[in-house]
Amino acid sequence: MVGGGMNGMFYPVVGFASCVVFIYMSFWDLTPHYVKEMEMGFVRRNGSQFMVDGRALYVNGWNSYWLMDQAVEDYSRPRVRAMLHTGAKMGLTVCRTWAFNDGAYNALQISPGHFDERVFKALDHVIVEAKRYGVRLLLSLVNNLQPFGGKTQYVKWAWEEGVGMSSSNDSFFYDPYIRRYFKKYVKTLLSRKNSITGIEYRNDPTIFAWELMNEPRCMSDPSGKYLQDWIEEMAGFVKSIDRNHLLTVGLEGFYSPKSPGKLDVNPGEWASVLGTDFIQNSKSSNIDFASVHIYPDQWLVGQPLETKLKFVEKWVVSHVDDGDKVLKKPVMFTEFGLSNMNKDFELSQRDKLYKTIFDIVYRSARKNGAGAGTFIWQFMVGGMEEYNDDFGIVPWERPSTYRLITEQSCKLALIHRRDRLTRFERELCEKI
Ligand SMILES: *[C@@H]1O[C@H](CO)[C@@H](O)[C@H](O)[C@H]1NC(C)=O
Ligand SMILES: *[C@@H]1O[C@H](CO)[C@@H](O)[C@H](O)[C@H]1NC(C)=O
Repeated sequence: MVGGGMNGMFYPVVGFASCVVFIYMSFWDLTPHYVKEMEMGFVRRNGSQFMVDGRALYVNGWNSYWLMDQAVEDYSRPRVRAMLHTGAKMGLTVCRTWAFNDGAYNALQISPGHFDERVFKALDHVIVEAKRYGVRLLLSLVNNLQPFGGKTQYVKWAWEEGVGMSSSNDSFFYDPYIRRYFKKYVKTLLSRKNSITGIEYRNDPTIFAWELMNEPRCMSDPSGKYLQDWIEEMAGFVKSIDRNHLLTVGLEGFYSPKSPGKLDVNPGEWASVLGTDFIQNSKSSNIDFASVHIYPDQWLVGQPLETKLKFVEKWVVSHVDDGDKVLKKPVMFTEFGLSNMNKDFELSQRDKLYKTIFDIVYRSARKNGAGAGTFIWQFMVGGMEEYNDDFGIVPWERPSTYRLITEQSCKLALIHRRDRLTRFERELCEKI
């Protein structure tokens, strides 16, 4: 059984918090607490902190982009439950995943405004499974890149219907027809009534937040105007339909010359002309929290690991600082990973990268700071090799990584939510 190998993986480490956990364990009454956990509240924001049920929430999370896709077919659907159950057992509280598939195989949106009910039911199922394990979902609404359609597919649709202004895939951001397509999709998704629970997505607290786009870039307009306009308009549109949920952009976090003091934090000069600016884009009044990605292999090609880790530390600290001092909003590191295609790659290097990022967020959490969470890219379950990229991990296959991640879950949970641990957190944190 998936995840069955996890027991016995923990060595008896004298934990920083075992006493605290022990005290709470002894007052533990399974039934009423379990029911309570099933009634999740909406995640809110107070300044630079996330709040839920009156407590600050700092997130140890992960990416599994494939949940909806794998929930479509009977043979692969059990992977969804296995992954969400595993994440919950690791004390992870939020999973980031795609709520889009535009025109690709098993598309949710087959053509503009036309949806496949079978795939919508798959997404309904993902939400129900997440709720079952007390995991919230950070749902992304479209891809900047081509997998699962992305902006290129929208442009192709407009071109095919004879209404597109341009064949440039950046016309996604400024073509009024394409903006209308995207709004239609957003409206359909946010007001979707879950076929299993009867709850509209916009009223479902299982959804942590919406993300406008995965890694938006508009390189044809380095001034950043097109993307900024698009963010303002779409963020306002999302909020006009759904005031319950938080919203983020989905940025990688690069600074443009609009943030002159920050340019030397970028991984290179190329990063300042992609049409995005972390500060300006995240400042938008309808954007509740900022998002950042971290790919040192792709951004600092050929550099030694030490150089990459130094960059990562500066990158993470800088963005947390922006959240504290400039944006006054939470900042989430929603993707990071090390590629196994590097010639000097060793699995232990991933632990070093994760720990570098985890430690900064932990320090921020202890000070009630804006460093609000981390999402590893990416987790799979066994037997999914064809869905893997060079970053994928089956988390229980590597004890040191597994232990590092679960320790972070407990450390974060125990700062602000000692009295509100989930069933899974109790089981986990007692063992550490
Ligand atoms: C919101 O944060 C401020 C400090 O930043 C704090 O004084 C206040 O109590 C918080 N409000 C809630 C509802 O937690
Ligand atoms: C955008 O279009 C260009 C030219 O067709 C292509 O090279 C590029 O890969 C596309 N970018 C994305 C993100 O789809």
